[in-house]
Amino acid sequence: MEQTFIMIKPDGVQRGLVGEIIGRFEKKGFSLKGLKLINVEQSFAEKHYEDLSAKPFFPKLVDYIISGPVVAMVWEGKNVVTTGRKMIGATNPSDSAPGTIRGEFAIDIGRNVIHGSDSVESARKEIALWFPEGIANWQSSLH
Ligand code: CMP
Repeated sequence: MEQTFIMIKPDGVQRGLVGEIIGRFEKKGFSLKGLKLINVEQSFAEKHYEDLSAKPFFPKLVDYIISGPVVAMVWEGKNVVTTGRKMIGATNPSDSAPGTIRGEFAIDIGRNVIHGSDSVESARKEIALWFPEGIANWQSSLH
């Protein structure tokens, strides 16, 4: 089953949006497979965003990601990569549709609350980077 990596960025955690964001993914029907609250180091943030290292905003982006704890998650379900990106909304909150997470909760591209993998391939890489311990395949025994 398809999985994606979702990160609630420091501004999302600091503003108390963790419950709202998790609730949206749960209510959509996706399954939470991994979750942790962590402070990442500069070298780790640089690795996560290595494809953007030539961009002029790269140093600011790294400073932002290491400015406080983030919530790193793995969500699973049918088409979760594409659907998750739709739920998140366009990268620039000025362009994100009302009803999306960024459309509802952000106004600044440098403080855009949440990250979601942009392809199945980047999801695989990001999950391996953020969850090197692996993702357990928990099964509920509730009936
Ligand atoms: P994210 O979905 O995490 O992927 C790359 C991130 O780079 C993006 O969200 C923004 O946080 C950031 N970003 C992209 N463009 C800009 C920009 N022009 N200025 C500042 N940050 C940016």
